[in-house]
Amino acid sequence: MRIRSVVPADHSALIELWRHTEGLRLRPEDEAAPFAAYLARNPGLSLALDHEGVLVGSLMAGHDGRRGYLQHLAVARPYRRQGGARRLLDEARRRLAEQGIEKCHVFVLRDADTSQAFWTQLEGWAPRTDITVYSTGGSR
Ligand SMILES: CC(C)(COP(=O)(O)OP(=O)(O)OC[C@H]1O[C@@H](n2cnc3c(N)ncnc32)[C@H](O)[C@@H]1OP(=O)(O)O)[C@@H](O)C(=O)NCCC(=O)NCCS
Repeated sequence: MRIRSVVPADHSALIELWRHTEGLRLRPEDEAAPFAAYLARNPGLSLALDHEGVLVGSLMAGHDGRRGYLQHLAVARPYRRQGGARRLLDEARRRLAEQGIEKCHVFVLRDADTSQAFWTQLEGWAPRTDITVYSTGGSR
């Protein structure tokens, strides 16, 4: 499996992956136009895991100049537990660090079990108990 940057043409393959990924909620922002706009705003940061030309994993990444934000970490079931997610994360962190962004956040649904298992065991990442996330604009 190799890691490469996500490009706008990956949209339909990613939607297919994300639809089949438990714990991941698709949003209007995942439609093709906002998806492409996000990539243009954060060039080279979102990553695909590619197995012989088939897209089997993803991590969307961007930053606001201060903090990095990670979304849609997903690996297709047959390719899990092979270190793919960890490699996606390490590479995204490396690319963010090149732009001066060291601190990153990820929002994980409480009942997304595999995702919680992944983030819990990672060294250097800790769940926040001191913050409540308030959101506006659209449904949760
Ligand atoms: C979470 C997810 C991305 C992990 O992908 P992955 O490629 O299997 O993860 P890795 O192989 O890099 O796992 C690294 C470590 O995380 C832990 N881990 C990962 N999945 C786990 C699971 N299902 N149960 C327990 N520990 C797990 C293990 O410690 C693992 O190391 P090990 O395999 O040597 O024991 C994948 O399970 C997935 O796509 N889940 C659904 C996605 C989701 O909920 N996304 C929400 C958006 S953030």
